[in-house]
Amino acid sequence: MDALEAILTRRSTRKYKKEAPDKAAVVKVIEAGRFAPSGSNSQTTHFFVFTDPDILAKMAELVKDEFAKMDAGEDTYVSLRNSINAAKKGDYVFHYGAPVFIMIANKKGYGNAMADSACALENMMIAANALDLGSCWINQLHWLDENEAIREFFGQYGLSDDETITGGLSLGCPESGLPERVPLERKGNPVTIVTKEGQE
Ligand SMILES: Cc1cc2nc3c(=O)[nH]c(=O)nc-3n(C[C@H](O)[C@H](O)[C@H](O)COP(=O)(O)O)c2cc1C
Repeated sequence: MDALEAILTRRSTRKYKKEAPDKAAVVKVIEAGRFAPSGSNSQTTHFFVFTDPDILAKMAELVKDEFAKMDAGEDTYVSLRNSINAAKKGDYVFHYGAPVFIMIANKKGYGNAMADSACALENMMIAANALDLGSCWINQLHWLDENEAIREFFGQYGLSDDETITGGLSLGCPESGLPERVPLERKGNPVTIVTKEGQE
């Protein structure tokens, strides 16, 4: 699959096989993330790769518990509100049971922290697709970045006080075998082209 095809057919996967994918493929996905561009070549994106089912289960439980303690108001961002409400009902799903979860952090106060992290995450999602793996951006830890219990949990794996959690990625073999590759219709993302002849 060439790069453009991998980009144009990438979709989010939300059902995974329990079994871990081939380690070499996971390493390639991480390398794709590490080779993403970064502002001023800062290379401060930190990749935390979790593959231990026990740790992943504890993480999912903790995330659910911490969301359940939060309150969502009318002005709470809709996805965050959905996470909080689902956690309160006990049916919250964190990483869709993927066998690999990659948490992304970057330096606190660094102006390109989110932009660099997004480049890394997108590179990893495209690489996963090219390798017949499924992936999905998981944003919940970003919302819980300042949560004490979450910081303590990840602190034991090396998240330092000067780092902010910018995102996460579920990764694994899609339950159906191959990733879903039918692109969603583009109804938004307008394009304005300005040329010498005018604007279209
Ligand atoms: C910044 C960002 C945050 C996202 N957070 C989540 C998430 O927490 N959980 C989830 O299931 N999908 C998440 N997604 C995936 C989007 O829902 C998905 O990309 C979108 O619906 C389009 O579907 P597609 O990826 O299959 O093309 C996120 C995507 C982005 C770019």
